[in-house]
Amino acid sequence: TQPYSLLIRNAAQVLTLAGPPADKPLAGAAMAEWRIINLGYVACHSSTIAAVGAMHELDEALIGPETRIIDATGRVVMPGLVECHTHLVFGGNRADEFQRKLQGESYLDILASGGGILSTVRKTRTASDAELLAQALQHLDGFRRYGVTTLEAKTGYGLDKETELRLLRVARQASRQQPVRIVNTFLGAHVPGPEYKGRPADYLDYLVAEVLPEVRGAAEFVDVFCEEGAFGVEDSRCYLQHARDLGFKLKIHAEQLHDLGGCLMAAELGAISVDHCDYLTPEGAAQVAAAGQGRTVAVLLPLVPMFLRQDKYAPGRQFIDAGLSVAISTDFNPGSCPSKNLWLALQVACLKMGLTPREALTAVTINAAWAIDRQQDCGTLEPGKRADVLLLRVPDYRELPYWLGENPVAQVVIGGKVA
Ligand code: NIG
Ligand code: FE
Repeated sequence: TQPYSLLIRNAAQVLTLAGPPADKPLAGAAMAEWRIINLGYVACHSSTIAAVGAMHELDEALIGPETRIIDATGRVVMPGLVECHTHLVFGGNRADEFQRKLQGESYLDILASGGGILSTVRKTRTASDAELLAQALQHLDGFRRYGVTTLEAKTGYGLDKETELRLLRVARQASRQQPVRIVNTFLGAHVPGPEYKGRPADYLDYLVAEVLPEVRGAAEFVDVFCEEGAFGVEDSRCYLQHARDLGFKLKIHAEQLHDLGGCLMAAELGAISVDHCDYLTPEGAAQVAAAGQGRTVAVLLPLVPMFLRQDKYAPGRQFIDAGLSVAISTDFNPGSCPSKNLWLALQVACLKMGLTPREALTAVTINAAWAIDRQQDCGTLEPGKRADVLLLRVPDYRELPYWLGENPVAQVVIGGKVA
């Protein structure tokens, strides 16, 4: 009976992203079954959504003198985007290697020659906290402008205890200085640290013995890059088991460049997400869905093959048809995707992975929330969830995958406040 603190009204379409109640990430046909309200409103009580409905259902008695009213005539209104896979904190950039790539060198060749991830590690180790923080804040500002309201941030450019812990501190500091919510993942197992060149298993032993115990409380997830030139399936399994025993939730970078079986291994361990999956087959996807008991989300990163000049994109259409839940992310990082444009990722997922617009919107909201275990807080417009809401400059959601490369965001509300 308290007046609303915020009312967004007259929206051409309210995309609730909410459908029948679900206790698992959305898969199959359910990815497209959420409700659209034509000519609708979203009302909030401080940081929480209080009501969502059609304008003719709006209880005018709850509009008081303190209610802030935003008119959304001609606009789509939807939940804030959930960006579920980024490498947010790093030093410098790799514009120099981009030139090499344009001349034909591959991602793994550049890494094997001491470049790639390792060149960012050098720049990160020598950067000051203030430099890393300033750069992270700049990237977060960019994400927010694209409508990202919750973001997962991985470490992985320190590769030693001191720097990895520093990256977690910088991420925590960044989360305090701006409104986008951050979820922390420890990716110390990105590649073997330069001190452990050629000894991946020893490096993982070092992480388990000396680093993971200190990461507890500072990161919620542990991730590993399972790939040639990084970590094999058996080493990754052993590492993730240790991480799980320490209480971490699990993620993996797998099947990015080869089909090694990392996704299935991680799903068997109960991983919350398996990420990249460009080389995962439709049969493999069905196995991952079964092994993960429908709880493991495949996080697809369509801007990565595009940026690495590869032709192979995860067969997202077939994953969904095989019953595997799908989310979409940029994978923002200095090497394989320097873009923060999650709309572009959504568009390329439609164009190259066969997702429908409705599925793709699920993949950047509620399924992305599942991929970082935030499904209770965000990803849909439903009473009780955090008031993270976007107003978009289009009247119909079908225009979202259509205006290629554009940012449709007119206004961003985070926790009930215009951000
Ligand atoms: O998700 N594939 C491994 N890691 C990142 C890229 C990191 C980098 O190149 O700096 C990824 O694509
Ligand atoms: Fe990544």
